[in-house]
Formats: sequence, structure tokens, C-alpha cells
Amino acid sequence: MAFTQKHILGMYHLEKSDIITLLDTAQGFKEVSNRVIKKVPTLKGRTQINMFFENSTRTRTSFEIAGKRLSADTINFSSSTSSTTKGETLMDTAKNIMAMKPDVIVVRHQVSGIPKLLAENLDASIINAGDGAHEHPSQALLDMFTIREHFGTLDGLNVLIVGDVAHSRVARSDLIGMTRLGANVAFCAPRTMMPRQFHVPGITISSDFEKMLPWADVVIMLRIQLERMHGTPLFPGVEEYSRQWGLNKRRLNLMRKDAIILHPGPVNRGVELAPDVADGERSVILEQVENGVAVRMSMLYHILHTQEEG
Ligand code: CP
Repeated sequence: MAFTQKHILGMYHLEKSDIITLLDTAQGFKEVSNRVIKKVPTLKGRTQINMFFENSTRTRTSFEIAGKRLSADTINFSSSTSSTTKGETLMDTAKNIMAMKPDVIVVRHQVSGIPKLLAENLDASIINAGDGAHEHPSQALLDMFTIREHFGTLDGLNVLIVGDVAHSRVARSDLIGMTRLGANVAFCAPRTMMPRQFHVPGITISSDFEKMLPWADVVIMLRIQLERMHGTPLFPGVEEYSRQWGLNKRRLNLMRKDAIILHPGPVNRGVELAPDVADGERSVILEQVENGVAVRMSMLYHILHTQEEG
């Protein structure tokens, strides 16, 4: 079915058919990264601006590489070196950037809802690269892509998402996207890190990590997001957290033999993941990063194609 979205603000706004289209196109783009000349002319003449108001390694680099591999002109805007440090407002900044006629703006911001605000006020297509604790759709899509590569489908798979669920935009986007593709999703977290309300029916909630591990085909470990706890940690200490909630070799043995481990990064080694588990054969963390380029190529391709059609 045709993809008709002008923006990608979150998994909430994507139908099952949109998700499948994005994943199928990403599958086709994946081989571009394995060529000697890693470039196709698909988005030649289109302009992509990456506006990051919050730090990023994987997402910003991956969106830049994705745009460049499609021959778009990609420009990076970093808030720390911009005139926002002189007091310019977000909307003034965005309107000035818009005056330079970009076709797509990829935005990360610490405040939930900023990508939607920009989509309502600017002519360019907007891609949400992570807003506060709200959504991170490109991460969810690359997670789904990686799982689909391993199991062929998400339909009927059991996906266990573990850790700081309350602050995790990845957990939200994964939950929405994966349930749309038929997966059974469970959140497992200390009670202090579990959000109180969900708008997605059918989710399993647990605070018993070791009981849930044998259930899972896929285990997604989350980072503790200290930067969103505003100086009040929701756990007694890092060592205690690791003891109760860390995925180590002993707990790995509770998992199914073919189960895989994902993590969105950055990993806190020795906290949510023991180093030998993070680097072990069940971990697909670097596959996620590799697949992120193909998935983001697909996102850029489809929303700019929608613009042309519109
Ligand atoms: N997964 C993720 O969003 O990583 P970065 O913060 O490095 O972009």
C-alpha cells in the first residue's frame, strides 16, 4: 500500500501498512551500504537539516549517513554551537532554518511534542529523532527491522522490554510499533520506573525479571535515563540496580536458546548489561546500528516521495 505520510512524528501515527512499507524499502536499501561506492541518486537536489537539541551519537550520524547515501544535501545543526545560546527561541530558530528552504528537518529535542509543533508551523517534512520521553520512531523501526531479520516476522513473538520504562521513548515507540505487527510486548521494570498508564491494550506488566526471561524471544534492555530524573534517582544505587536488573551470564541461561538481546544504546556497561553479554553472540546491538542506516534511508525516501506526489 502507498505511503502517504508527510511527517514521521511517532509510531502512533503509522498504520501497520506504513510500517511494513518502511521496513520492506529499508531491506532494499541495506545493500547500498555494502557497496564500494555507497551512494544512489534517489534524493539528489533535496535538502535535509538535522536539528539536534539533545546529544546523540547513533541517531544523528545515522540520519546524516542515510541522507548522504541517498545523495541529499545534509546539514547538521547543533544547539550548543548555534544562536540559541544567545537567547534565540526555538520557533525563531526553526523559521530561520525554514527560510533556507530545506525539504526535511530531522529533529531531536528534550521536550516531548516539539516535532509536532514544528510540523504544524513549518512547510518542511519533520522526522522525530527522539522527543523527551515521548517517541523515538526511527529506533523502533530499526529494532523491528532487526527482529524481523532474525525471526522473519514479529507476529506472535514475545518481546520483553526491561528497565527504565517510565523515561524511555524507545519503550513507547517499540510497544506501539511491535503490537501493530502482532508481537506480544511485556514491560518489566522496578515499580518506580514503570509508567502508571498505557493507551495500548494487551500489554503485560511485570516486576519479576527472572520469571519473564524464559518467556521472551526478544529481550530489549534499556538504559537508566538519569538525565530525566531531575536529580532524584528512582533506585538505591547503580550496584543494587545491576544486581536486581542487570542482564548477566547467569540470567542469560534463563533465556530461550534462540532469544536475542537488543539495546538502543548508549549502553551503561556493567549496569543494565554485563560486558560479556553486551559483546556476546546473543547480542545484536551492532546489527541494530547497521540496520539504522537502511531504515533511516527508507524514512527519508518515503516522506520526500510523499512530498513530490502531494
Ligand atoms: N539510540 C539512540 O538514540 O542513541 P543516540 O542517543 O546515540 O542517538
